[in-house]
Amino acid sequence: MSATAEAAEPRTDLVLLNPGPANTSERVRRALGRGDMCHREPEFARLLGSIREGLVETLVSPDSHEAVVISGSGTAAVEMALSSSVRAGRAALVLNNGSYGERISRMCTAQGLKSYEVTEDWDRPIASARVAEALAAHPDIDAVVGVMHETTSGLLNPMEEIGAVVAESDAVLVVDAISATGHEEPGLPQIRADLVCGTANKGLHGLPGAAFVLVGRGKGSSRVQEAPARSLYLDLAGHLRAQRAGDVLHTPAVQVYQSFDEAIKEFREQGGYRARVADYRARSALLRAGFARLGLEVLVAQPHRSNSVTAVRLPAGMTYDRLHDALKKRGFVIYAAQGRLSGDYFRVSNMGELSLRTLSRFVSELEGVLSPW
Ligand SMILES: Cc1ncc(COP(=O)(O)O)c(C=O)c1O
Repeated sequence: MSATAEAAEPRTDLVLLNPGPANTSERVRRALGRGDMCHREPEFARLLGSIREGLVETLVSPDSHEAVVISGSGTAAVEMALSSSVRAGRAALVLNNGSYGERISRMCTAQGLKSYEVTEDWDRPIASARVAEALAAHPDIDAVVGVMHETTSGLLNPMEEIGAVVAESDAVLVVDAISATGHEEPGLPQIRADLVCGTANKGLHGLPGAAFVLVGRGKGSSRVQEAPARSLYLDLAGHLRAQRAGDVLHTPAVQVYQSFDEAIKEFREQGGYRARVADYRARSALLRAGFARLGLEVLVAQPHRSNSVTAVRLPAGMTYDRLHDALKKRGFVIYAAQGRLSGDYFRVSNMGELSLRTLSRFVSELEGVLSPW
């Protein structure tokens, strides 16, 4: 949030250009009010089954992965996958070129997990050769954990190449695809990840409060059974066993699941993964053409840019707070840059229920804010 004081009444008509929670459709929001439901009844088992099936059918394949859905944000899914993929006495290799990679390293520390790191500048991808070197140097690595789309910078890591390297080893590949599922390339089937973490409220256009891990039926599933449960709440093997039987371990955010199920149905009806990739590509191209026209510099160079987040350099003399507040008055919420990028950059996401028209209007408003100044 900007340092500037907020008005007493929150606005609900804002266009959210922050990378989640994203704007949702009326249909998805309405599903939230469908009514009460007990999570130990067959109707909940059907709802859970529908979400689990929908996720694997649209994002991977029922032959390759099965889904575990939990109540919580994306961080919970990543923490669950990490803590459930490293056997006792073994280590994780963290691929760190942004604040979400950094967060995974902090999770290792919090969980008391031994870890190694491959680090890179925040505007550069992690090279798969460096992952191969680290695996060769440290035979105790049990899991390679990386971020597909670093939301910090809008950068895509070469997960397909990294996946090919990891597939040759005994380690499992854990991918934080929180800001990539449903709209970034390559598609998840090409990446061959053993565990994929995602959330409802970014590119899948659901509401915040539900996250998931897609567990590979081969190495992923067996590793999860072998690793000790390091957390009672985030025990992936336990969740998997329960959900295979249509059950859940704890009280789920039932209403959020109802809207998530609706969002997945909407995603499928709109053409699924291919259609959303094309849509997001057109959105990000429109924004970036606008930034270029306004003389604004984008942090990440091609071909590493994602379809969904752009980190843009603040014009000289303009602060993030001033820009944020002026745009918010005009109905648009932009997002601050994180860590070492804050102060110099701002971020614009094009995830969620947005039209090209709305994004064109945003570029015009941005021009309006920047021109008299
Ligand atoms: C790549 C990535 N990983 C993890 C997270 C954390 O997700 P959450 O804020 O839902 O816990 C985010 C959030 O933006 C993200 O972009």
